[in-house]
Amino acid sequence: MATILDDIEPLKQNALGELKNAPDLAALEQTKGAWVGPNGKFTALMKQLGALSKEERPAAGKLINAAKTELETALTARREELEMKAALPKEPADFTLPGRRRALGKLHPLTQVTDDIVRAFRKIGFAVADGPEIEDEYHCFDALNTPADHPARDTQDTFYLAAPPPAPAGKPEPAAKQDVDRAEKLNLTPAEKPLLLRTHTSSVQIRVMEKQPPPVRIIVPGRVYRRDNADATHNPTFHQIEGLYVDKNVTVGDLKGTVEFVFKELMGEDVKIRFRPHYFSYTEPSYEIDFSNSLVKKMGKHWLEIAGCGMVHPQVFETVGYDPEIWTGWAFGFGIERIAMLRYGINDIRLFYENDLRFLRQF
Ligand code: DAH
Repeated sequence: MATILDDIEPLKQNALGELKNAPDLAALEQTKGAWVGPNGKFTALMKQLGALSKEERPAAGKLINAAKTELETALTARREELEMKAALPKEPADFTLPGRRRALGKLHPLTQVTDDIVRAFRKIGFAVADGPEIEDEYHCFDALNTPADHPARDTQDTFYLAAPPPAPAGKPEPAAKQDVDRAEKLNLTPAEKPLLLRTHTSSVQIRVMEKQPPPVRIIVPGRVYRRDNADATHNPTFHQIEGLYVDKNVTVGDLKGTVEFVFKELMGEDVKIRFRPHYFSYTEPSYEIDFSNSLVKKMGKHWLEIAGCGMVHPQVFETVGYDPEIWTGWAFGFGIERIAMLRYGINDIRLFYENDLRFLRQF
């Protein structure tokens, strides 16, 4: 008499055949349900186990379990196969196509020029220092010996921050530059005065000298802000490099030699430098540095004004606690955009700030 034992093998073969031939993942899941789901044909067979005699049951159970394992293995194998097939591109790959070029970023031209200037100064032992762009009047002006009525402090030039430090109870709140004058009259302490965006990197000279004893040999590349309307040669924000050298017996000759060395490193051997007497409150004597080379001549000029400099004013040393009888020093500051414009032949400073890729890709 035929028993369910005889049904197991052919049923299993059928199931295996269907699983292996399932054309896609959805069909595979359907096939799985049809065989081993709650109403599946194999499940039905297992339910019949109960009808067997005690003697037949163990052998039948064993057979059915083995068949089930085999089906599960086949199911997993086919599922992996189909999943891999689904992940493959529909079109065959064409290995002769040219590769896809990756867009490489570049350093902004101002960063490139700054890096070159820093490299030149590093060669002669200068370290890079920095300081905050949001400054107080003390570091930006007072400590640099710039009197309160100096035009550099005028509202025309300086961005004062609208949110000053909170006024102490009982004193009125200073709001902006118009309040600076009021602050003067109100006798506010420096901490109560409004903050500003630094108009030059010279403020960092003070911050460095406050922190460390002499000697000092630093440069400070950084962003500065002025209330200028943007045109071809002005922008409300630009960059400077400040230099400060303090030691014993420092001379104007050292200053001139250093400036000349750095500009030759940057622009080549045909560079000429000229010092013209000038006024800065934090240096005495003070000079403006004029620069000349073939590029300047090509612009139809003889000299281009490129930096301010001078011997550090004794009053500045007094302010930071350096003894002016012992220490001498020089300082300079120049605009990075000026140098970049000259170097690359750029005639509008605003180009540096527009982030137009057609411009930036050229460097
Ligand atoms: N701070 C000046 C400016 O922004 C530049 C300058 C002049 C810096 C003379 C100096 C200096 O350190 O000694 O125009």
